[in-house]
Amino acid sequence: MRDGYSFKETNFLRIIAVANQKGGCGKTTTSINFSACLSFLQKKVLLIDLDPQGHSTCGLGVKTQKGMLTLYDLLTPLQGVAHSLSQVLYNPQPDLDLIPCNASLNALEEEFGFMPNYHLKLRDLLTRISEDERRYDFVVLDCPPNLGILTWNALSAADEVLIPVEPSFFSLHGLAKISETLQVVSRSRETPLGVHALMTLFNPEVSFSHEIYDEVRAHFQSRLFTTIIHEHASLKEAAAAGQSIAQYAPQSQAFQDYLNLAVEYLERDWNRKLPEKELGWDQIFRNHFGPRQISDGILFQFFSKTSSTVEVAGDFNHWIPEPLVRRDQDGLWQKVISVELKTFRYKFIVDGEWQVDPSQPMQKQNAYGGVDSYMEFA
Ligand SMILES: Nc1ncnc2c1ncn2[C@@H]1O[C@H](COP(=O)(O)OP(=O)(O)OP(=O)(O)O)[C@@H](O)[C@H]1O
Ligand SMILES: [Mg+2]
Repeated sequence: MRDGYSFKETNFLRIIAVANQKGGCGKTTTSINFSACLSFLQKKVLLIDLDPQGHSTCGLGVKTQKGMLTLYDLLTPLQGVAHSLSQVLYNPQPDLDLIPCNASLNALEEEFGFMPNYHLKLRDLLTRISEDERRYDFVVLDCPPNLGILTWNALSAADEVLIPVEPSFFSLHGLAKISETLQVVSRSRETPLGVHALMTLFNPEVSFSHEIYDEVRAHFQSRLFTTIIHEHASLKEAAAAGQSIAQYAPQSQAFQDYLNLAVEYLERDWNRKLPEKELGWDQIFRNHFGPRQISDGILFQFFSKTSSTVEVAGDFNHWIPEPLVRRDQDGLWQKVISVELKTFRYKFIVDGEWQVDPSQPMQKQNAYGGVDSYMEFA
């Protein structure tokens, strides 16, 4: 055991899916570095790259060339010969094995389409792997940024899902979707799926990060890791160099963050059940993105990455459109309007098209046969 750490022996295999359909929230960075830190703590880990983008593969310095066997060859139903695990394994660091993949994995979407129980193919493969003499302690699955067949396979095979959440406006919306999916997957499983969330890409100087953290904590409660992964340039550099942070910069704060995560994971006695009752992401989403009172008036917000103009009009400005200002690359548009009214109707005008507010459901019929968004403050 590494100096200073001592954990109970893990005498069973645990399978952890790192999943969130939201792109760029740190799934791959977490899969690589969480795996690397577990193996640094002398656990035997197998990382499986389940994303056809192959980022865990190249992030660990493995280049898939033509003719080389990958995860696709282990999963495809079209192959006559069953390949052995050792033909597909790489060993980028002591105690860390990798099953790489590349864009060929996309073909499974179609190939599985004709098969019964196609969502259990990865589970069957992992059963074969658990009988292999290598005896892993952990299998980590790096999922693609969607809730398609590959992620569904991962969630069906896993004992636990680790959901990385980066503090952006869109991440809360993404959590609503993955929560729904987890409920559906859980119904089709025999054993409960453990759920953990991890705050990633955290920049303490951005006040909004703290707000999102509080919301995520309120929802996941003790299932949110106490460890926070901060934004560190060295994590990007390590990925570009094809190395885990344990190899690239073992003295760095980034390594310390991921080591803390691995230690916390191994030390905690997790409540592995989903909560009885979800805490209502709709409400959380509405609280954040619907109009809200701030000191200078009411903050109106709208999300669109593709629109050129977004305006708001309502009872408070005699229905004369006023422009929102685009704030960030996530497509967040904002405008503060001084509103005296406690109740009002309003609409957004997006590239000239009038529409109700998609972030909050309260609406009222208007005199023209349509509906307006409606807001009421106590
Ligand atoms: N804590 C961090 N600090 C700085 N950069 C980070 C951090 N985590 C991830 N990144 C960078 O952010 C980008 C997205 O991260 P990553 O690829 O891990 O996300 P992902 O969820 O796997 O994305 P995808 O949805 O495309 O699979 C990458 O360039 C990565 O290097
Ligand atoms: Mg990824």
